[in-house]
Amino acid sequence: MSFPRTRMRRLRQHAVLREMVGRADLSTADLVAPLFVKAGLGAPEPIASMPPHLQHTLDSLTREAGALLEAGIRAVILFGIPSIKEPSGREAYAEEGIIQQALRRLSEEFGSALLRIADLCLCEYTDHGHCGIVAEGRVDNDLTLDVYRRIAVAQAVAGADMVAPSGMMDGQVGAIREALDGAGFGQIPILAYAAKYASSLYAPFREAAESAPQFGDRLSYQMAPAAREEALREVALDIEEGADIIMVKPALPYLDVLHAVRTRFDVPTAAYQVSGEYAMIKAGGQAGWIDERRVALETLIAIKRAGADIILTYFAREVGGWLRD
Ligand code: PBG
Ligand code: ZN
Repeated sequence: MSFPRTRMRRLRQHAVLREMVGRADLSTADLVAPLFVKAGLGAPEPIASMPPHLQHTLDSLTREAGALLEAGIRAVILFGIPSIKEPSGREAYAEEGIIQQALRRLSEEFGSALLRIADLCLCEYTDHGHCGIVAEGRVDNDLTLDVYRRIAVAQAVAGADMVAPSGMMDGQVGAIREALDGAGFGQIPILAYAAKYASSLYAPFREAAESAPQFGDRLSYQMAPAAREEALREVALDIEEGADIIMVKPALPYLDVLHAVRTRFDVPTAAYQVSGEYAMIKAGGQAGWIDERRVALETLIAIKRAGADIILTYFAREVGGWLRD
């Protein structure tokens, strides 16, 4: 027998065949674009660590959503920066809160052409920057759930197609499900940030959302990076409580978790390629050290390969263009 008998390279000789057997199923239909909208801005503000992303005004947000649709991206997740931050985070559920205004505006402009996902948390709205209500120096889980219920209903009333709780409070999915059902929004799905790690890769986001904690850190509610089985428990609980889609976050450094989750549970699974993942690739590309486009696509394909059905990524608009060429 001549050696080698099995030649793996045979299937790599023709571009068409290469694609047939090793297809990357990345499509604009998988992608969700995160967008930031800030109350009281006269003009959009650049986010220094995430070029070319902006803190949007309602007008520039609307233009950006239009550009996304043109690029084939049909889903956005919205983050709001209010004009007033205070301990109760009330701008998060105020009828005239910035996210409620943004949801109404996007509904009027685009109707069902655009899927409007509302991130549901308190860190952008509280003066201390924590994801929940602080009582006696600690983030109080159950007091926070009461506020999350109100936010969920306010977002649904304003036109959210889906809500995405990201605060990692225990029982948040169940509480929000109950509140939505009770208010007649039984049809609104929940995208649960189920396995969310306390990652240093959120730093650019905290600049964008002006949401860095003013004391302490998020380790008492987000998961430690080394945790593994805990992620599966978190996901199982969220499914039990009624999550329609589950999420793992960040994405690339946690592909093992993403894969384990996808293998274990038959629930649509999302991955969030977070701000720091984006900023590293951007910066490397701008320095001329790596090819931004190739690296971005490679990472997104890897996230798909690991099992993501849906990817939240700051590259969404650019990917739309890249996939077209
Ligand atoms: C807040 C929230 C964060 C992100 C999404 N929602 C940051 C945090 O937990 O501090 C991070 C997203 C990103 O880095 O792109 N609940
Ligand atoms: Zn938060």
